[in-house]
Amino acid sequence: MKNRVVIVGTGFVGMSYAYALLNQGTLEEIILVDIDSRKAEGEAMDLNHGLAFAPRKMLIRSGTYEDCKDAKLVVITAGVNQKDGETRIDLLNRNAKIMQSVVKEIMKHGFNGIFLVATNPVDILTYIVWKSSGLPSNRVIGSGTSLDTARLRYEISQYINIDVRNIHAYILGEHGDSEFVCWSNAFVGVKPLKDVIDSMPAQIKFSDLDKIYLDVKNSAYEIIQRKRATYYGIGMALVRITKAIFNNENRILPISVFNDDDYDIDNLYIGLPAVLNENGVDHVVKLNLNDEELKSLKKSSSILKHSIDSITL
Ligand code: 2OP
Repeated sequence: MKNRVVIVGTGFVGMSYAYALLNQGTLEEIILVDIDSRKAEGEAMDLNHGLAFAPRKMLIRSGTYEDCKDAKLVVITAGVNQKDGETRIDLLNRNAKIMQSVVKEIMKHGFNGIFLVATNPVDILTYIVWKSSGLPSNRVIGSGTSLDTARLRYEISQYINIDVRNIHAYILGEHGDSEFVCWSNAFVGVKPLKDVIDSMPAQIKFSDLDKIYLDVKNSAYEIIQRKRATYYGIGMALVRITKAIFNNENRILPISVFNDDDYDIDNLYIGLPAVLNENGVDHVVKLNLNDEELKSLKKSSSILKHSIDSITL
């Protein structure tokens, strides 16, 4: 298998991801595939002109589904995105059809690597990619709540004025309106966030955490209202996930993963922290969720289950 990623969909998300891969010198080959093949060609040309300034040599070109055959990773970003006022789940039937036909084409060419799905509604579409591909579930993942978690870490970091990389906290559940914060397992460095807040009563209040959650949950809507789409954040989140795979990192990331017995999740994909390496998902990390968090996870699961059952393909 080649040290290659094939990106399906050269819209804003696909190209922000490709640009971040180039800047970070993440891997050897980036192949761009789009139904508009001229667009993919133009994007490859443009990226190649940045190679002189990149940290390493890379092969970047446009391609076809045939290029998936030897690829370690195929990242799907194709599909329609939310218009102002639409939820992610509103996109379901339109994007489900696109996913099915894309995956069929890719599998026809003997792909046997890892699928990473970024198209929304991501948890449900990841399920569809898994079903349509016939690959083992540990080799089909979605970007899940990786972006929401990055947003959460950023907001907490701003609030308590500590570097974002020292904030360890997750958004879990649906990448969408029913997502929730796992506050019971939130840390600043090695100190529980709760203790940090307790130690600074004059500056920090627990009630502000609700606002942080709402800001995170609504950030995509706020960005879409202002600039019609979100793409830089997700582009970098996808690179993080890609590195965990290509560098065999055993990195814990909140991504969309299939079923987990520990969390009593049955026959669906949902955002949970998982250990990721070159084989895909190694295992899901079991957190001690409190009752409220368990309830939120159940609610998120039932929303996703209901949506899966409602798909008309
Ligand atoms: C985001 O959260 C729209 O899912 C996309 O930015």
